[in-house]
Amino acid sequence: MNLEMVIFSPVSTESIHGGGAKLRGELTPPGDKSISHRAIILGSIAEGLTTVTGFLPAGDTLSSADAMMMLGIPIKIDEDTLKIRGKGTYGLVEPENTIDAGNSGTTARLLTGILSAQNFFSSITGDQYLRARPMERVVIPLSLMGARIWGRDNGKKLPLAILGGNLKAISYTLPVASAQVKSAILLAALYAEGETEIIEPEPTRDHTERMLSYFGVRIEKDDSRIKVRGPQKLESGRTLSIPADISSASFFIVASLINPNSEILIKRVGLNPSRTGVLEILKEMGGDIKILNKREESGEDIGDILAKSSKLKAVEIAGRIIPKTIDELPIIAVAACYAEGETVIKDAKELRVKETDRIKAVSIELRKFGAEIDELDDGMIIRGRETLKGTECSSWGDHRIAMALAVAATRAKGRTEIKDAECVSVSFPRFFNILKTLRT
Ligand code: S3P
Repeated sequence: MNLEMVIFSPVSTESIHGGGAKLRGELTPPGDKSISHRAIILGSIAEGLTTVTGFLPAGDTLSSADAMMMLGIPIKIDEDTLKIRGKGTYGLVEPENTIDAGNSGTTARLLTGILSAQNFFSSITGDQYLRARPMERVVIPLSLMGARIWGRDNGKKLPLAILGGNLKAISYTLPVASAQVKSAILLAALYAEGETEIIEPEPTRDHTERMLSYFGVRIEKDDSRIKVRGPQKLESGRTLSIPADISSASFFIVASLINPNSEILIKRVGLNPSRTGVLEILKEMGGDIKILNKREESGEDIGDILAKSSKLKAVEIAGRIIPKTIDELPIIAVAACYAEGETVIKDAKELRVKETDRIKAVSIELRKFGAEIDELDDGMIIRGRETLKGTECSSWGDHRIAMALAVAATRAKGRTEIKDAECVSVSFPRFFNILKTLRT
């Protein structure tokens, strides 16, 4: 941590009184983070006005908005409404300064895809956590398409410097299942001569494909192959309505399942099948979860989720479901702590390169509550218990770890203190306020 951060970061500790709270009420979580990033980026390269409602105004998505503004796009943000004056695929201008993606991997990787196609110089960096995360996964395919990219640690880490333009199509098999990498290549492919083909080892979230189609881009897709022919333009700006984030909703679903006499209704949640692994797993664990009022908006499935107290049992989580629930594994681990039997999570090595090493962070922090967890190279083994005990713990600067620990604390006996809890601001700034309003 540098001196500036020590002096200026507002570090906060959150206190939670546990003991099996009765949690009741309803909420609409903030807008989907993945879709919010894509709305900003695609709206910027479409022609004319795109109006977005249900946008997530939080640290990560504001990093994407700042980046597009530095590239010359006027964006007006009014709480969860956005107005983007898109300038078309060739309307971006050389940024005067280095783009700062903050804590946001999606900003850094998707933008590297767009910048690789631009005929100007740009550079991109991030905070201490993002600077430690792997970037060669986008640098390699984008370099194969013809972009010139330099970076720290031999092109593997931020900051990156990019000289783009004159791209050619490639056929590329992703070495890891990653929607960010797939999206970076897809965005570059809009500018590349010929047909780009991407082969996924396992299906990952498909918001980029859906939104590109919504903007009129022709894209072909079967189970593991996505094809797009370049150059292609997006049609004129659109009106987009973004659903609430299922990743943010999942903290409240688990809070309701593990606490006695609880019932929470979570409204307008995005139910894109590439994101609903968490619901499949929690239902298999015995979770009383009902989907109400299912509908479609702006090319995405939406519904309300009703979750009630449940007696949970252990499950095995591995294989193709992992990319469909990668961001929810920390909160699923919390559910497993209160489930009967031994839950095994495997094939989730990607958790080690998220905002922090989430396998290590979850194991170390939940053990402080008395949980029995063994760390695996690619997952965890969790032996459930009736109760845990409140403790002092830390978020490791990772929003999803902070929220998972807070939910664990609602059921644990006694008081829990979570250090560095302010990091929830990157995806869910009002998380702790809402959690408090649900206690009766
Ligand atoms: C995201 C993709 C996933 C996910 C991240 C958001 C996206 O990352 O973990 O929170 O918006 O495309 P990977 O592509 O690294 O799996």
